[in-house]
Amino acid sequence: MPRTFKYIVAATTLVASHFLHASNSPAAAPITFTEHVAPIVFENCASCHRPDEAAPFPLLSYRDVQKRAELILTVIDDGYMPPWHAQSKDFEFHGRRGLDPEEIETLVAWVDGGRLEGDPAKLPDLPQFTSGWQLGEPDLVVSMSDGYTLYAEGPDIYRNFAIPLNLDEDKWIQAIEFRPGNRAIVHHSLFYYDTTGEALAKDRSDPIPGYKTMGNGVERGGAIGGWAVGGIAKKLPEGLAYRLPKGSDLILSTHFHPSGKEETEVSTVGFYFSEKPPTQRFTAVQLPPAFGALARVNIPAGDPNYTKTDSFVLPVDVKAFGISSHAHYLGKRMNLSATLPDGTAKELLTIDDWDFSWQEQYQYKDYVALPAGTRLDAEVVWDNSVNNPNNPNDPPQRVRWGRESGDEMGSITLQMVAADPAEFGTLAQSIRSHVSEARKNARNARGRQNRLSNTIAPRIREQLITRFDTDKDGKLSAEEREAAQNALRRR
Ligand code: HEC
Repeated sequence: MPRTFKYIVAATTLVASHFLHASNSPAAAPITFTEHVAPIVFENCASCHRPDEAAPFPLLSYRDVQKRAELILTVIDDGYMPPWHAQSKDFEFHGRRGLDPEEIETLVAWVDGGRLEGDPAKLPDLPQFTSGWQLGEPDLVVSMSDGYTLYAEGPDIYRNFAIPLNLDEDKWIQAIEFRPGNRAIVHHSLFYYDTTGEALAKDRSDPIPGYKTMGNGVERGGAIGGWAVGGIAKKLPEGLAYRLPKGSDLILSTHFHPSGKEETEVSTVGFYFSEKPPTQRFTAVQLPPAFGALARVNIPAGDPNYTKTDSFVLPVDVKAFGISSHAHYLGKRMNLSATLPDGTAKELLTIDDWDFSWQEQYQYKDYVALPAGTRLDAEVVWDNSVNNPNNPNDPPQRVRWGRESGDEMGSITLQMVAADPAEFGTLAQSIRSHVSEARKNARNARGRQNRLSNTIAPRIREQLITRFDTDKDGKLSAEEREAAQNALRRR
């Protein structure tokens, strides 16, 4: 059977030359699982393909791999596995996943050569994993005390869960590993600490686990990171940490999306503390801010390239270390570029095949130095056409910004420190101003719309409604109003 793999083509040519070469030597050793394949699979696949991790089956033994060999070649060829979506031609990412051409060549040759097991004595040791954790044994593990049961169908639920930590001293957090008990329904969870006891009191006074929230976390308390589908816990770079004051309760602010059957969630959280207090503070700029809430995201049905952009000029020299992006099912492409004061352009991140299932927090291998005056340009592109296989609507529907999974969001977040810690305040202030600027612009845009509806004579208003109410719901939606506004302006 001829292979039609696009990317393995090159590899099979390599394989051919490999065998040509090998056939000259007297004892061309066959490619076997224990000697050649297991090291590749253990190194690149086993961290997720083991019990209690996100992957649906283990890849730890000859049998595990042998029986799925064709599927494995297919997903590698598609670039679907190992999962990795972040690209940059200028900077390297820490822990990048991917196979070399020679490794792919070996896998193909093994399958073509009859999937031999080989000498069991040659099987390498499995890498050392801590069962149940990606980052090893945590310093502190806590869980929700009771399961929260989510209905089979209905609107998405945002709910907070308060968990006492009983810390008798301040701690410095290097990483938090979040383990959803039920990956089918947990869309994301944001972490906060609360030193007032209010969250815990609310949780305890609510008859079912957790308490209701508007989805914007907590009224008070510190933000200490979060998890979204596909997220793999990462430690902050040396010298950086979140402060966790003694006496804090942990708040998990979780977004659930029903799966079609009733499900129960018990989340578990592992804390990794640093011995020493951090040497400096860090922050993040999000473009556009608030996951796009202020950017008037309003995606027409069928639009394959709906785009929002946002820019931010760095007020001081910074060193960037982490980057992530967020969108829902219509997300298509993300790009963050930096234009340095001398005009040089650098690619901080491109994701050209956005996948809702892999919302990873990426870290650069080394700090990325960006001088004061550097302009960051973010671009988020959505595909609301029928050609987007992840489009939840068939036929496509207009989709706006919103907090349901079926609504959209979109933004890119860059984490950084001020190169000179003394300038941290200037950096943080400038980021806050960017957010309030976006808020002001959004308010002005809304104001313009309201003025249109309030200052127009009733007779004209009625005419406008008749003419522009395309969805015939008796009122003008944001985009119908925009069309009316444009028509008025043209008069
Ligand atoms: C970071 C975690 C991770 C790593 C590393 C990883 N996988 Fe996966 N893999 C997953 C998850 C999660 C799924 C389920 C995805 C889904 O259902 O969409 C999956 C699914 C698969 C599937 C099933 C695909 C299907 O269509 O049913 C195969 C085959 C697979 N992985 C092979 C591999 C191989 C081979 C490697 C190493 C080269 C690898 N994976 C590395 C997490 C991982």
